[in-house]
Amino acid sequence: MERLQKILAQAGVASRRKCEELILSGQVAVNGETVTTLGVKADPEADIITVGGKPIKSEKKLYLVMNKPKGVITSASDPHGRKIVSDYLPGIKERVYPVGRLDYDTEGLLILTNDGDFAKMLTHPSHQVPKTYLATVRGIPHGNALEKLQNGIKLKDGMTAPAEVEYQDVDPERKQATIRITIHEGRNRQVRRMFEAINHPVSRLKRIKYGELNLSNLARGKYRHLTAQEVEDLKKIATKTHNIQK
Ligand code: URA
Repeated sequence: MERLQKILAQAGVASRRKCEELILSGQVAVNGETVTTLGVKADPEADIITVGGKPIKSEKKLYLVMNKPKGVITSASDPHGRKIVSDYLPGIKERVYPVGRLDYDTEGLLILTNDGDFAKMLTHPSHQVPKTYLATVRGIPHGNALEKLQNGIKLKDGMTAPAEVEYQDVDPERKQATIRITIHEGRNRQVRRMFEAINHPVSRLKRIKYGELNLSNLARGKYRHLTAQEVEDLKKIATKTHNIQK
């Protein structure tokens, strides 16, 4: 059972706010009974919900993966007119939401869905789904600096959980290195803050893997639908709680 305004918004009728107005103005009915208050819940699978007398379409669950370019925000809208991820989803009429977020300046693998339970499952902190990034950093970190990241490092919101860290590329001429790092948490700007804490700020950050899902050859700015197997695999990894000590 879900709140009526949520069901209507998920079915693409309008924004949740607008759907609330539709309910209050008496245009919505459940199984033939007009609803005019906001607390009412319904079952989108079993109940017949109408707006202005017309049944709403039950929304198909969508699972997408995109290769987010840098300079795009993962919010549904931006008051400053910056590019948003839905600008890169031509042909997708449903409202889909990013599973976790990537910073404006971070590129790479982003999962999008309209399945709230799936998103919650993947982002729940106790599920510790591994996420792998390539971080290009200023300077070349010593092995013991990387070890600190591996063991857990103190950030202002607490110690990080152990991470897997390895050199991907070292470029002494440009005085930079690319480090492959896998974290099991999803704190705000976590990878950037971890490298800042060892005095090697990130100049480029790309997520290349989420659970077992790779970006493969998905071109920058493009998306594709996940296969049923990929969705199942992600669910499996999210429900398998890892026992990582902090
Ligand atoms: N860590 C970051 O610092 N930024 C991201 O976008 C994702 C992980």
